[in-house]
Amino acid sequence: MGGLARLEYRGYDSAGIALVTDDRSRVATAKKAGKLARLAEALEETPLPAGTAAIGHTRWATHGPPTDANAHPHLAAGGRIAVIHNGIIENHGPLRDELAAQGIDFLSDTDTEVAGHLLGSLVESGLSLADAMRSAARRLEGAFTLLAVDASDPHTVVGARRNSPLVVGLGEGENFLGSDVVAFIEHTRSALELGQDEVVEITPDSVTVTDTHGNPVSREPYHVDWDAAAAEKGGFATFMDKEIHDQPAAVADTLRGRVDDQGRLKLDEGIVDEYVLKSIDKIIVIACGTAAYAGQVARYAIEHWTRVPVEVELAHEFRYRDPIVSVKTLVVAVSQSGETMDTIMAVRHAQQQGATVIGIVNAQGSTIAREADAVLYTRAGPEIAVASTKAFLAQITAGYLLGIYLADLRGNKFPDEIDALLRELDEIPAKIQRVLDTAAPIREVARSMADERTVLFLGRHVGFPVAMEGALKLKELAYIHAEGFAAGELKHGPIALVEQDQPVFVVVPSPRGRESLHSKVLSNVQEVRARGARTLVIAEEGDTVAADHAAHVFYVPSAPVLMTPLLSVIPLQIFALELASAKGYDVDQPRNLAKSVTVE
Ligand code: AGP
Repeated sequence: MGGLARLEYRGYDSAGIALVTDDRSRVATAKKAGKLARLAEALEETPLPAGTAAIGHTRWATHGPPTDANAHPHLAAGGRIAVIHNGIIENHGPLRDELAAQGIDFLSDTDTEVAGHLLGSLVESGLSLADAMRSAARRLEGAFTLLAVDASDPHTVVGARRNSPLVVGLGEGENFLGSDVVAFIEHTRSALELGQDEVVEITPDSVTVTDTHGNPVSREPYHVDWDAAAAEKGGFATFMDKEIHDQPAAVADTLRGRVDDQGRLKLDEGIVDEYVLKSIDKIIVIACGTAAYAGQVARYAIEHWTRVPVEVELAHEFRYRDPIVSVKTLVVAVSQSGETMDTIMAVRHAQQQGATVIGIVNAQGSTIAREADAVLYTRAGPEIAVASTKAFLAQITAGYLLGIYLADLRGNKFPDEIDALLRELDEIPAKIQRVLDTAAPIREVARSMADERTVLFLGRHVGFPVAMEGALKLKELAYIHAEGFAAGELKHGPIALVEQDQPVFVVVPSPRGRESLHSKVLSNVQEVRARGARTLVIAEEGDTVAADHAAHVFYVPSAPVLMTPLLSVIPLQIFALELASAKGYDVDQPRNLAKSVTVE
């Protein structure tokens, strides 16, 4: 349970354990929705018998709401096999159908149970647990860290991984498996990382690693230097830094498994009648804070792809302006927590006016997810830091997916255009990683600016909400006055703010393309520079023209114009984090702020 408690930051909507005991026919299990404490209470009331091999799981739901039935572990082979899982199994649908046709009954809504019954059927066919895991891993698609135990084998735990982490803890007369080292760090600091598509079999005295075809793989152990607190943050000093570095995975996971066999995009939960979506004549995005800026970015793409007018309204303003809403209005509620009261109340108002509501939500089973007519979950994983980063990128990604879905459904885009957009999105996670890998200069500049008292942020088109988000990050983390403007607005007043050495960030679009706003934004850079501003420019790799007008230039990889916010915001996130850290502030828990504003 100690290991599970340390893993709770990775997910905490339900938890469970499975033990191999003296009963060779059935694994002993206990599982509960809610935080780990509820499982602990249940075990106090009804202790499990002593066990020799055990697996445990604390969940962040991706398929199926957080209920007792959906909690892990899941049983198979008549209770002989227990399995737990992190990740998203993309082909769980057809596998579920195949297994159901063999007479297998399912007790949960989860993709995990499908993997469990696949494993169970292979063990019942005579394979060892390890061979069954290798065979199952070859059939599964998507992302998984799978662990399993077999009641008939008291000293073995088997695991497999693809696109989801799995590490081995090497103890004395005991060995461990975990999603990260924090699961076993109190027992051993000797660890071994599994690679892609590898299977591991551990007993108290042995660790055997193979590929999914059984070929041995050798892995070098390493010593874990982190303390437990650092391990929870993946070795980063703060959750915010860790979550900024989780962004490639957050975008990749939000994209994963979204397209069905016919190439059609699929929403997570709830159904919106296609007729309704074909008939909408207006979209209103409602959200607060960073989520609202994500909505503003997505608006450019959704409008461009679907030709449906899109408004973005702050949720707390929406219902007081007597909005024009009808049955032909689609309201999109964007919320990481799904519990922001302003957004909840706006959702209810929209539904009272007859609108259809789709939620773009990170927390499974949250109020907005439950009350919306349908949900497109962001799969950013739990976001612990109050300042939103990976959820922001995942919200934009989900907004693009919704825009692509609508454009496809309403016939605005040909299938090959849809495919091209999805391919371009699939390239984004690697580009995000490149920005993260080259972030040292912006960290250095941020630390040198720790005494600044005011910073301006400029951007045009999709760069405008990026500028607003960059300003918000600096406000909420470093408590510095920061303001984002549409670059074109400068001459209409804000330029009066610019004085000697005034730091001004400018998000400069790509110089490529007929409609590029590059020259217009460069003119804005020159305008502020001419008045003494210190220009910090975010520009596309290779844009030396932008560099000529910058005191500092931070490059990001090229991407389609509408997708550039997924890259250009990252230097601004890191700048705010680093400057606040240089001031000695708590970037995970900034003053006056809460992770979820559950009051109006
Ligand atoms: C962003 O860094 C802030 N934490 C805040 O603006 C947040 O985005 C806003 O409160 C909305 O929260 P939600 O996404 O959970 O609804």
